[in-house]
Amino acid sequence: MSVHVEQRSGIAIVTIDNPPVNAINLAVRTKLLALADEFDADSRVRAVVLTGAGKLFVGGADITEFDRPVEPPSLPDLIGRIESAAKPWIAAIRGAAFGGGLEVPLGCRMRVATEDAKFALPEVNLGIIPGAGGTQRLPRLIGIETALRVAAENLQLDGVRAAELGLVDRLVREPLVDAAVDFALEALESPLPEPASRRPMVAADPATWEEAGQRIRRSARGASAPLLALDALRFGVENGFDAGLANERSIFLKLRASEEAAALRHLFFAERAAPRPADLRGTAPLPLASAGVVGGGTMGVGIAAALRNAGIPVVLVERDQQSLERGLAALKAIFEAARKKASLTDEEAEARMQDVTGAVGYEAFARCDLVIEAVFEDVAIKREVFASLGRICRADAILATNTSYIDPRQIAEGLPDPGRFIGLHFFSPAQVMKLLEIVPTPETRPDVVATSFELARRLGKVPVRSGICDGFIGNRILRRYRAEAEALLRDGVAPAAVDAAMRGFGYAMGPFEMQDMAGLDISFMHREAARARGEQIAETPGDLLVRAGRKGQKSGGGWYDYAPGERSPVPSQEAARIIAPLVGAPIEIAADRIVSRLIAAMASEGQAILDEGIAASPADIDLVEVHGYGFPRKRGGPMFLTKRQTS
Ligand code: NAI
Repeated sequence: MSVHVEQRSGIAIVTIDNPPVNAINLAVRTKLLALADEFDADSRVRAVVLTGAGKLFVGGADITEFDRPVEPPSLPDLIGRIESAAKPWIAAIRGAAFGGGLEVPLGCRMRVATEDAKFALPEVNLGIIPGAGGTQRLPRLIGIETALRVAAENLQLDGVRAAELGLVDRLVREPLVDAAVDFALEALESPLPEPASRRPMVAADPATWEEAGQRIRRSARGASAPLLALDALRFGVENGFDAGLANERSIFLKLRASEEAAALRHLFFAERAAPRPADLRGTAPLPLASAGVVGGGTMGVGIAAALRNAGIPVVLVERDQQSLERGLAALKAIFEAARKKASLTDEEAEARMQDVTGAVGYEAFARCDLVIEAVFEDVAIKREVFASLGRICRADAILATNTSYIDPRQIAEGLPDPGRFIGLHFFSPAQVMKLLEIVPTPETRPDVVATSFELARRLGKVPVRSGICDGFIGNRILRRYRAEAEALLRDGVAPAAVDAAMRGFGYAMGPFEMQDMAGLDISFMHREAARARGEQIAETPGDLLVRAGRKGQKSGGGWYDYAPGERSPVPSQEAARIIAPLVGAPIEIAADRIVSRLIAAMASEGQAILDEGIAASPADIDLVEVHGYGFPRKRGGPMFLTKRQTS
């Protein structure tokens, strides 16, 4: 049963019990609607307390229903019925009251909550807006300014703040239901407050809307829902509750059926599933109280910052004192930048560095639970590092490599107890990028894999397990993506046309601008190494550029020219001349054709990766692209998009 009812002193207590998050689905809506009728007809019932079973009130509406048309009774109808009930409903909230789980209490006559209650309207993350009065009732309870931050900008309120703002009528302690019943009996003694929909509202001045619009446009990064949430809220303020409610619903229904919302739902489910692979349930992670990082270069420093941000003490080892000092300075600069942006306080920034131990020599790792290697991408150097780690680290410490391309089995060769070895592939900048590719070897023990997933959780990363192949999931697809972009050049399309098409699709940068930023030389060296091994790899336009000294922004030019000290790409005559022997006569292709060729190439590599068992699911591949390579979130990922287009 998804809803329980009990009666105490004339108060009906209704508990939504629909694990794991008490989601409001059709069964819950139907039952609550019937109960509203039943209580109104029952002279023994004086008021109703509505609560959630377990640790939270209601995590939201049931998203699995969103791929189907709405089945009545709809949530707005239910909430309207609760709001107009003859017997007042009082919401009793602990833990999360999110989305529909906040809209229902907004329709209740009053609300009590514990201090740790959490209120939010996260609909915009799913490409929709609140669809059951959230944008209409909330501003009438807490004011326009804060309401629009909640509805359009993901602001979460705790119980204390909600009480200050008037969203919560009384803060109570556990046991919650007893406190709510006492509150209800007391409230019945005096006239009740007006329902939220009938409360007056203080109009906002035009500057409020203007400022909020600008702020939201900036942070939405191309997503449509946040600005529409603002529009819905404003429309209700200016046209009254009833018109506002109807308008909100119509925007909600349109968005609910949109491709963007379907894509975001797909990612929501993928992100929820990613941290808990089925085969690791029941495998306990090992303790992880301290970590070591070998190499204080680009990646080592970023990884150390990510670990410190998660509160894990770090030992950073470099090959000599000078490199160590450079690495520690780079690490400090990361926290300093965060302090300047006010995302860290002075004390926090200082504390971040306090638990960093810098050293030359691996003895400093002797007590670490985990050591992550991020030295040069060279198998001989990496093997040497692991030979030392194998001797010096505790026998039960996990040893990980951040290699991008080298087969981890080669790195682990000769390591005593290879069961504790694993690939942990972070993305640059490692303290920012959410993706963590977890690459076990055939020997890696399940508890080492489980600990890697636990590490990802603590670092706030999205973990994706990858089998072993050249470039693992992400870089392998990247290579195919670049190859297809170069194939377009060979057909005669200009680099700038390819980049513009991909930006139009939603990437922050096109493939050629991206290469200029990262440097063309790394993949060039990779191809050269393969050629030296005797592999047949045809000359690419990128090879011609590197040979001519055009390595990207760092050398003043690559695919594009750059004015000194500038980062904006300028189409380059010189680059065009250099690559001319490998590209076709200039042609123009429509942007959507360019996009579909590049996405099809990614999806076809993704399919090969699935067929080989390198990735566990198409959704995992989409997570890699979205969280590691800037694939636009609102498009869901190459596998999702390709499936939608072909079905
Ligand atoms: P980097 O060249 O910036 O840093 C490497 C650091 O390791 C240098 O500071 C060097 O002094 C230090 N080092 C070299 N040998 C050492 C030793 N024996 N003991 C201690 N320290 C030593 O290189 P980067 O870019 O940080 O790459 C490191 C690893 O991470 C490579 O395997 C690379 O393939 C991988 N990676 C790089 C990414 C990137 O975007 N740069 C992304 C993901 C992985």
